[in-house]
Amino acid sequence: MIPDDMVEEVRSRADIVDVVGEFVQLKKAGREYKANCPFHEERTPSFYVVPDKGFYKCFGCGKSGDVFSFVMERQGLDFVEAVKHVAARSGVEIREVNRGRDDEDPNRPLYEINAFARDWFKGRLADEQAGAVARAYLESRGISAEICERFGLGFAPDEWRALREAAAAHGFDEDLMLTVGLLGTSERSSEPYDRFRCRIMFPIESLSGKVIAFGGRVLEGDTKDAPKYMNSPETPVYHKGENLYGLSWARHAIRRQEKALVVEGYMDVVSLAAHGFEHVVAPLGTALTPEQAKLVSRYCTRVLLLFDSDAAGLKASFRAADVLLAAGLHPAIVTLPPGEDPDTLVRSEGTEALQGHLDDAVDVLDRKLQILDERDYFSSIERTRQALDRLLPTVRAASDPALRDIYVDRVAARTGVRRETIEAEIERERQREARPRPAPMAHRAPGLRQSMPKPGAEGQLLKMMVRGVEWVERAGELISAEDFEDPQHRAIFQALLDDPETRAPPASMDPVVAQRFEEILADREDLAHGIDVFTKSVNRMRVAVLDRRIQELQQQIEAASTDAEKSEFAGEKSRLARELRELDKNYWKAATRGARSEPNPNRPGR
Ligand code: UTP
Ligand code: MN
Repeated sequence: MIPDDMVEEVRSRADIVDVVGEFVQLKKAGREYKANCPFHEERTPSFYVVPDKGFYKCFGCGKSGDVFSFVMERQGLDFVEAVKHVAARSGVEIREVNRGRDDEDPNRPLYEINAFARDWFKGRLADEQAGAVARAYLESRGISAEICERFGLGFAPDEWRALREAAAAHGFDEDLMLTVGLLGTSERSSEPYDRFRCRIMFPIESLSGKVIAFGGRVLEGDTKDAPKYMNSPETPVYHKGENLYGLSWARHAIRRQEKALVVEGYMDVVSLAAHGFEHVVAPLGTALTPEQAKLVSRYCTRVLLLFDSDAAGLKASFRAADVLLAAGLHPAIVTLPPGEDPDTLVRSEGTEALQGHLDDAVDVLDRKLQILDERDYFSSIERTRQALDRLLPTVRAASDPALRDIYVDRVAARTGVRRETIEAEIERERQREARPRPAPMAHRAPGLRQSMPKPGAEGQLLKMMVRGVEWVERAGELISAEDFEDPQHRAIFQALLDDPETRAPPASMDPVVAQRFEEILADREDLAHGIDVFTKSVNRMRVAVLDRRIQELQQQIEAASTDAEKSEFAGEKSRLARELRELDKNYWKAATRGARSEPNPNRPGR
């Protein structure tokens, strides 16, 4: 039995739109939400949810009730089960009277140790002495005590067993702490130690408000060799690609504002909240995943991407945008002034300045059109053809049919290509993707891939890049310097990014590297079908990067001393393997694509 006051608490904390929205595609209609009724067949919506009053009603079949009756009816649960279901989604912990032990959540101890750690970190931050430096740091970044409280921020002191001992004193199991990654072990000693030390701690919550993981940021000045952020490993309760930092706090605001802001990291979320922007979330140290996009789609359709203003940030925005489009969302890009991230901007220029940038957000397709225009892509027939190639993936990604229609129109208007032709191109791409891959690729094992002429890819890419700034731009969007295996190539790549028009090694360049750069600049090899050379090199490099990383992870898995570490590495490895398979598909697509038009060799800058 669940005590009545507890039932009432669950009812008051529950967001009926969230609970119903899990099963029904709700559309906002004024202060209410409507949908096709889940309880009877209909083609026009007569099912209403009234969040202010906490009930739903269908004017077609007459069904009505509160959040509990909806779950009972829809899921075929009894009352107690329904209350538990809603409680789990609303961050209320149910204490049942005379409750059997058998239906207990097996992960409960993991949540408990995490909650304990969150409270302990909070206590350290609040501590007069131990927390003084950390409090000063947060204050210097404009984070008030109230914001710390809202996000449950804490401080992990610079000690090796402080948390371990505190938890032991409360009877927490050490293995549990290893599993959730609060403790670690090293090769030298099996003695577990505190994994987070001298860091500002950001608890990561599930949608229902349970603590599932942590991110920890080093204090300024302590950055020596430690990574800036340390994150919990993948655990039974935490999969980073399936959670968004901040969503448990932001979701009501996201629903109210009918849009979400997606930023790059913890600090941006917290800092924007401190300035009154509450509808903000961040992926957790990885590129935005389809699962994360799906999460967002439960609350809104419009998503503003607010990443760093540099080239890497733009590249990340476009990738995230395609993922969001595929989830049926409408992404727009916010462009910040050079050198700013959302946190620095809002602190230096204030709420209104940031709001101005948000108001100027440009739909992702329009942003691509703008950029192509700025780079003079629509001035010649040749380049317009290339522009079309770069726009089509975004048009194709849009899974909302209305949005896609608009996109096709826009692209047709700008390129002068007829709608039907664009539709046909999209369809051709789709069929190419659907076609089964020919046998040799189908069972290409990682080992085999390694024996392919990979070493040439980096050099080929650089050779393409020195043939025109447009190749540099394009490469910069797809590849980062770290992706190069050969440090000389990496340095040359960086030099080209820094100055795409350079036709001589910069004076500061190491002479050996400069020599290699000269060779590349002087190379006159005929690279017919430049687009193919380019695409293949890029894909081969990305495959090589993933291969290397996967092999590293395999070694790490074998060397791991704890299960927590093992599962962290294994999780990452399977994610990368997925990415690799995806890439293989595209690689094959690129390899079979016929010759395409090439950038104009006569354009200025050569
Ligand atoms: P940033 O380096 O942009 O950090 O990384 P930030 O959030 O702006 O923090 P401040 O302003 O420098 O304090 C963006 C995100 O990338 C992940 C984190 O999620 C971070 O919030 N990240 C970054 C890591 O996971 N590990 C790192 O070492 C660095
Ligand atoms: Mn920052």
